[in-house]
Amino acid sequence: MVELKSEDKIKYTINGPFFVIKLDNPKNLNAMTREDYLYLGQLLEKSENNPDVYFTVLTSTGRFFSSGADFANITAKNENSNDPELTKWLSNFVATNLYVTDMFARHSKVLICCLNGPSIGMSAAIVALCDIVYSKNDLVYLLFPFASLGLITEGATSVTLPRKINDNVAYEKLIFSQPFKYDVLKGNIIVKNYKIEDTDEFNSAVLKDLSEKIKYLHLPSCLGMKNLIHSSLRDEIIRVNSIEVNDALKFWLQGEPQRRFKQLLLKERSHKL
Ligand code: CAA
Repeated sequence: MVELKSEDKIKYTINGPFFVIKLDNPKNLNAMTREDYLYLGQLLEKSENNPDVYFTVLTSTGRFFSSGADFANITAKNENSNDPELTKWLSNFVATNLYVTDMFARHSKVLICCLNGPSIGMSAAIVALCDIVYSKNDLVYLLFPFASLGLITEGATSVTLPRKINDNVAYEKLIFSQPFKYDVLKGNIIVKNYKIEDTDEFNSAVLKDLSEKIKYLHLPSCLGMKNLIHSSLRDEIIRVNSIEVNDALKFWLQGEPQRRFKQLLLKERSHKL
């Protein structure tokens, strides 16, 4: 199968003060290759560097926001490379996750996520890194199947989930690889449920509301407040991100995640939802 380029799978438009990113590969539930995550990081940088942009809005397509790291891509990276294991996973995992999480942590524009459906793994971590999350309905969930894939917390979830939800819920759901369902997410990560069936309609409704909400605002004030509210979390994310990826490297070097991703690819493993 010919792999689509990231630009075909992740689109963006600039609409006044909104930099709108759209994950657009619903066929595999918006699974993300390493290159896709890097491209997403580059788009954040593009938004960051545009002085007319105040809000970066993440949207998606289809029934999932994103099913996380693409297991076919990880298996191919593992099996088609002659690099020593350390080189392979420093580049495929450590550098990628460090860069993408850091891009989100340092992003100065207000990060808004239109959660049209479930999100998994690193993509769920990205939802938790956003400042404001709206959900399409109450069927959304975030799943961090790190323990069932032989991984550990990544994308700064060791910090974002305890801080935004609560310590004991985060322990239980992360350690036993259970989904954070809507009832757990509402009021902390999810601030409003739009109760809309169709994803495109939901994304349009959020953008229309946002345009209304900002009508009489002085937008530099919004960025000034984002900076103040985010400052302690940002520092904590930057600190923990580096520890997470380097701790996870040992797991990649032992090979357990690669074995489990291959089982996902071969449909020999599935997640409990
Ligand atoms: N990578 C590649 N393809 C994926 C995918 C993924 N992560 N998730 C789903 N797909 C594909 C499926 O293979 C399937 O393709 P085919 O129709 O060609 O068979 C299609 O998308 C639809 O998926 P399902 O038929 O499985 O749909 P479902 O509703 O029954 O299940 C699901 C949905 C629960 C998301 C299930 O697909 C699943 O568990 N996917 C894997 C999720 C996952 O573990 N992601 C990795 C997270 S870890 C991470 O992200 C960390 C990191 O950076 C290293």
